[in-house]
Amino acid sequence: MLAADPKLRMCLPTGSTPRPLYEQIAGQSDFSDATVFILDEFGLPDGDPARCSTMLERDLLSLLSSRPKVDRLDPMAPDPEAECARFASAVADGGLGLTLLGVGRNGHVGLNEPGSTPESTTRRVILSQQSRDGLNRYGAERDTDWGLTLGLEEVLSSAEIWLLVRGAHKADVLASAVRGPISSDFPVTYLREAGNVIVWADESAASRL
Ligand code: GLP
Repeated sequence: MLAADPKLRMCLPTGSTPRPLYEQIAGQSDFSDATVFILDEFGLPDGDPARCSTMLERDLLSLLSSRPKVDRLDPMAPDPEAECARFASAVADGGLGLTLLGVGRNGHVGLNEPGSTPESTTRRVILSQQSRDGLNRYGAERDTDWGLTLGLEEVLSSAEIWLLVRGAHKADVLASAVRGPISSDFPVTYLREAGNVIVWADESAASRL
């Protein structure tokens, strides 16, 4: 799919999970006619190492020979709600062909934290403690308790969704995602209602399936 449609409109996550995939596709794919929407963003100033835009630049965009068009949620916009509405409308205007997702240990997708439902739209969110703790892993230079995220509603509207899961520490998460009750307590479970989802897991993440 990545190679098949040069005009692909895709939504991409950041974090540690997609890094090997990005490394692999960077040298092989022509993204010059593609459009990339960055899945979510932390309420941090521009350039912070933990900003999703900083991570995607480092892990993928800077490695590409031809840059796609990139749209992102700007947490420093004067009116975050208006910024979310702008982003959601840019996504809706043409839709998403492919959305790649990681998953948090609490079952979040993007920053759709526990409590999010399939009707949750693109919005400003308060981070779970787990997501805040994760900021250190990404080298954040300061703390934040909020972020902006593409909503589950928009994620679920994507023509195709790839859920990427990597590492033994995600084995329980993947088992719950696949077999646990479908519930807002573990938002990734809503992907089971989408019917267009492919799970890409490494052996250690798949060890409890
Ligand atoms: C982060 C991001 C998500 C990401 C997830 C998993 O907080 N907001 O977009 O997919 O948590 O991150 P990681 O791949 O680093 O485990």
